[in-house]
Amino acid sequence: MATLCIPGRLETGAGSLNKLASLVATQGASKVLIVMDSFLAREPLNVARKVGDILKEGNIEFGLFSEFAGEPTTIDVDNAVQKAKEVNAQCIVAVGGGSALDIAKAVSVFSINPDIKWNEIVQKDYLRCIPIIAIPTTAGTGSEATKIMVITNTETNSKMNPGHPELTPKVAILDPELSVSLPQNFTAFTGMDALCHAMEGYVSIRATNLTDFYALESIKICGEALSLVYENGADIDARQKMLLASYYAGVAFSNASTNLAHAAGRALGAKFHIPHGLSVTVLLPFVMSFGLEAAQERYANVAVALGADNSLEEGKLAKEAVRIIEEYNDKFMIWDAAKKYITNTDEFRSSIPALVEDAMMGVKLNPKGNNGIITNRKIPTEDDVKVIFEQLADRVDMV
Ligand SMILES: NC(=O)c1ccc[n+]([C@@H]2O[C@H](COP(=O)([O-])OP(=O)(O)OC[C@H]3O[C@@H](n4cnc5c(N)ncnc54)[C@H](O)[C@@H]3O)[C@@H](O)[C@H]2O)c1
Ligand SMILES: [Zn+2]
Repeated sequence: MATLCIPGRLETGAGSLNKLASLVATQGASKVLIVMDSFLAREPLNVARKVGDILKEGNIEFGLFSEFAGEPTTIDVDNAVQKAKEVNAQCIVAVGGGSALDIAKAVSVFSINPDIKWNEIVQKDYLRCIPIIAIPTTAGTGSEATKIMVITNTETNSKMNPGHPELTPKVAILDPELSVSLPQNFTAFTGMDALCHAMEGYVSIRATNLTDFYALESIKICGEALSLVYENGADIDARQKMLLASYYAGVAFSNASTNLAHAAGRALGAKFHIPHGLSVTVLLPFVMSFGLEAAQERYANVAVALGADNSLEEGKLAKEAVRIIEEYNDKFMIWDAAKKYITNTDEFRSSIPALVEDAMMGVKLNPKGNNGIITNRKIPTEDDVKVIFEQLADRVDMV
């Protein structure tokens, strides 16, 4: 038995954004809230005008919530819910990276369930939500394909990641014209995030033959397209491929769970304000090495999907997977980027106990759920997680 939650409809291709108004109509909606971060909304990108013009032409009324920047917090969610109520939104059009898409998910719940608590979302058999049309501009989080939202609780400064099948967007539009403007560093961070989702979903104990299908295809596409898009951000074909890889990875991990790189990466990102993709890719080689023997066959398949010579024996291939990820991190200047956030490694080392506690928090909050700890093939102890953070500190010291 296996379950797969995916969006009801997927649109791909350059120019597919132009179908937006008719897609809103398929949701029975005539009033929408657009959620988009302030950088995308304003000049020079002005994606808000582009989206607004398409909606106007299709006689769809809309309001815009764009008063946020960076990764979303509970305060952003409260403000966005207020705006959704003002425009009486029947559908949310989310345009942007995972940050915009996740705010849209929170709005879709809280604007019509004002009394629900964050920790109740995951427990509901049925959750009434406003439909979401998700249009990613990074490739990425795969949030357009997932049932998960990641929101920082401003009271605790920790990242919550509640999930529910009803949060899966009804429609996803993967239009590569929207992602060509993504700068090179974020192209790398978000692309490594997609690859990490696919790999963690693939090695998760909750992986099924359904999720494996999406995970392996995603890893294969990342192996082909990530370097191309890093070298040339205007390569529309490679941008489209990475959007698809990110979507497939989202399907894989949303249905099978992410793992330790994400549990630890969320803690790291929240404390040091590191962009999400960067926070997971700096941990990935250490997390892979930690669990390599327990998931040797799976990591060997990862290496082959990334282009390694499949005549090598399994143990060597598994190690090859780690080597390829290290190579990507070097090529994409990941360590220089990490150094900008982890400026003082002594300070970093002294915060390791708090980081470990936060990384292990999922087990307390949701002991049997997809918490990124018990879903690893080798379940990490607090000491194991401490060692991984120490390895990261040592690596940053080498920059
Ligand atoms: N819901 C999920 O399933 C899921 C999965 C993984 C991560 N996340 C969450 O998603 C968030 C991160 O999302 P992200 O990595 O996509 O980054 P993001 O949405 O925070 O965007 C990063 C930066 O890139 C800019 N940007 C986005 N698209 C652009 C474009 N086309 N051109 C120019 N600039 C552009 C944004 O303005 C922002 O400054 C984190 O909060 C993370 O925890 C969610
Ligand atoms: Zn991620």
